[in-house]
Amino acid sequence: MATNRTFTMLKPDSVEKGYIGAILEKINAAGFRIAAIKMTQMTVADAEKFYEVHSARPFFGELVEFMTRGPIVAAILEKENAVEDFRVLIGATNPVDAAEGTIRKLYASSMGENAVHGSDSDDNAAIEGAFHFSGREIF
Ligand code: CMP
Repeated sequence: MATNRTFTMLKPDSVEKGYIGAILEKINAAGFRIAAIKMTQMTVADAEKFYEVHSARPFFGELVEFMTRGPIVAAILEKENAVEDFRVLIGATNPVDAAEGTIRKLYASSMGENAVHGSDSDDNAAIEGAFHFSGREIF
């Protein structure tokens, strides 16, 4: 059954380029409520754990290096059908394939540096949210 929460990160490229405000505005305009939010920087150990599922992929080293090179903004977002609707809002993983008006079309520069993360399932949304936030940081 679909739950009403998803997890996102505004990745280091978005933070470096000054896109935090613009991306949060798109998220708000699309009807998501922010249930938790923080700016943080992942360690290499954090990123290796967070992306464990991709550890055998050829891009894993590049992914960990990118995700740890600067701060991110992590957030838990609430809306009916959150996981699916957020993935529509952010667009395809590769910005070249992302639909017009999506966050990745507007702000991502490549498949690796693709501006935002969005959970791909309700189970992963819960796991990823709990990775970054304690119970008393979620409202
Ligand atoms: P995301 O879906 O947020 O989480 C996994 C990330 O791996 C993905 O975003 C991309 O940033 C990255 N990724 C996926 N495929 C590739 C690839 N072929 N080359 C580089 N990075 C990739």
